[in-house]
Amino acid sequence: MKLKRQKNMLRKKAYAARARLSPAAVAAKSARIAERVLGLAAFRRAQVVATYLALADEVQTAPLIAACHAARKRVCTPVFDAVTKSYRFAWLTPRTKLRAAHFGVLEPVRPRRVAAPARIELALVPGVAFDRAGHRLGHGRGYFDQLLAGLAACKVGLAFAAQVVARVPHAAHDVRMDAVVTEGKVFQGLEKIRPDFPSLGQPARCWRGTT
Ligand SMILES: Nc1ncnc2c1ncn2[C@@H]1O[C@H](COP(=O)(O)OP(=O)(O)OP(=O)(O)O)[C@@H](O)[C@H]1O
Ligand SMILES: [Mg+2]
Repeated sequence: MKLKRQKNMLRKKAYAARARLSPAAVAAKSARIAERVLGLAAFRRAQVVATYLALADEVQTAPLIAACHAARKRVCTPVFDAVTKSYRFAWLTPRTKLRAAHFGVLEPVRPRRVAAPARIELALVPGVAFDRAGHRLGHGRGYFDQLLAGLAACKVGLAFAAQVVARVPHAAHDVRMDAVVTEGKVFQGLEKIRPDFPSLGQPARCWRGTT
C-alpha cells in the first residue's frame, strides 16, 4: 500500500537522523525541550500528565517527570497488556519500580492501572518524525494511535528538530498532536495550549511555530 511505503521510507530517514545525535547532544537538546514544555500553559495547568519513558535516542523525559512530581502533578505511563496486546496507562510515582519490558521500554513492575484515562490533561508523546501541523509517525505498530485515540488530553509531541519534516503522510487513525516541541521551537495549534486565545477556526490555520 502506498501510504505504508511512504511511511516506511520516512521512518528510515528519521531513524538515521536521530541516530546521528550523540548521547551528549540528546541530553542537551532534551534539557532545552523540557524547558519549553515547562513553559507551556498546558503543562502548568495539568494535574494529570501522561508521559513515555524514553529510550536512549528519544527526547528524554526524566527531567519533566521530576518536575511533575515536584509540582505534585500525577504522572502515568504506558504499560503493555499481553492479553489485549495493547497499551494502557499505569501510575508512575517517584517510588515506582521499573523494568525494561516490551521493546526495551521501561515499565512499572507492578502496574496500577489508571482507572479514568479521561482525566489525563496532558500527554507527552514520542515519535519517529513529526510535521509542523502535528502529524506524527511512530514505529509503525499503531500502539500510540490506539492509546491516544479518544483521549481529550492536550497531546504534545516531543522531538529533536532533526525529526521534523515537511510533511508526515497520515491516515484517519493517526492521532494528531496539539503541539510539537523541539529544542528550537514550539509548533502549536493554539486552542488547547492557550485556552485564553480566541478560537481561530480550523486548527490547521492557526498553527504556527514560535521560538
Ligand atoms: N485506533 C486504532 N485501532 C486499531 N488499529 C489501529 C489504530 N490505530 C492504528 N492502527 C493500526 O496500526 C497500524 C500502524 O499504524 P501507524 O502506521 O499509524 O503506526 P505509527 O503511528 O507509526 O506507530 P505507533 O502509534 O505505534 O507509534 C495501522 O495500519 C492500523 O492498522
Ligand atoms: Mg500512526
